[in-house]
Amino acid sequence: MILGICGSPRKQSTEYVLKYALGELEKKGFQVKYFSVSGKKIAPCLHCNYCLENKVCIQKDDMFEIYDSIKNSDGMIMASPIHNGGITAQLKAVIDRCRSLYAIDINILRGKVGMSIAVGGDRVGGQELAIQEINTFYILNGIIPIGGGMFGANLGPCFWSQDSVEDVKNDKYGFEALDKTLKFFIQTYNLLNDNI
Ligand SMILES: Cc1cc2nc3c(=O)[nH]c(=O)nc-3n(C[C@H](O)[C@H](O)[C@H](O)COP(=O)(O)O)c2cc1C
Repeated sequence: MILGICGSPRKQSTEYVLKYALGELEKKGFQVKYFSVSGKKIAPCLHCNYCLENKVCIQKDDMFEIYDSIKNSDGMIMASPIHNGGITAQLKAVIDRCRSLYAIDINILRGKVGMSIAVGGDRVGGQELAIQEINTFYILNGIIPIGGGMFGANLGPCFWSQDSVEDVKNDKYGFEALDKTLKFFIQTYNLLNDNI
């Protein structure tokens, strides 16, 4: 199962492109699951270290809706709008709250494939930095970060929404980069799962 996590507090551009990506995977036979932080209460990590002792987070909020999906997924796609040059506070909270997962087992996420999507209101508004923030989480946890390669996609799909869903749909460059990155995501998934 491939888990898509949308880091936007709204149901707009980022949701649109992430659902497009999951739809493409579905067409190729993947089981997918979508989760959005929109309308959810996910508090930032308190660094209380309760999880290190008890193997579960002390903060009983909506993060519990995705702990199992994160753990059981074969791959994930995290997508974030750009807020002040980086990922949203909501997505960062999800990332930090994964501490209670690797409190159970430091290798719990190792070997999954991970892809990142960034959506900015500006053409160059921090998308690459946001992708690097998500990829850093992947690297720290042994998740294999997938980029799109040179000549058009580079670190992964960087979308230009111009602050509207209608405009993000017209971002041809963004969708080309997304398609290229999905190709490598599937290729790596297949290599890892003897699916070739
Ligand atoms: C608090 C805040 C900060 C933002 N900062 C940036 C920014 O630094 N760079 C950028 O390109 N867009 C920025 N934006 C615009 C959003 O990234 C853009 O509208 C995006 O499409 C929102 O995605 P969504 O519609 O999925 O929520 C910001 C928006 C908000 C609310």
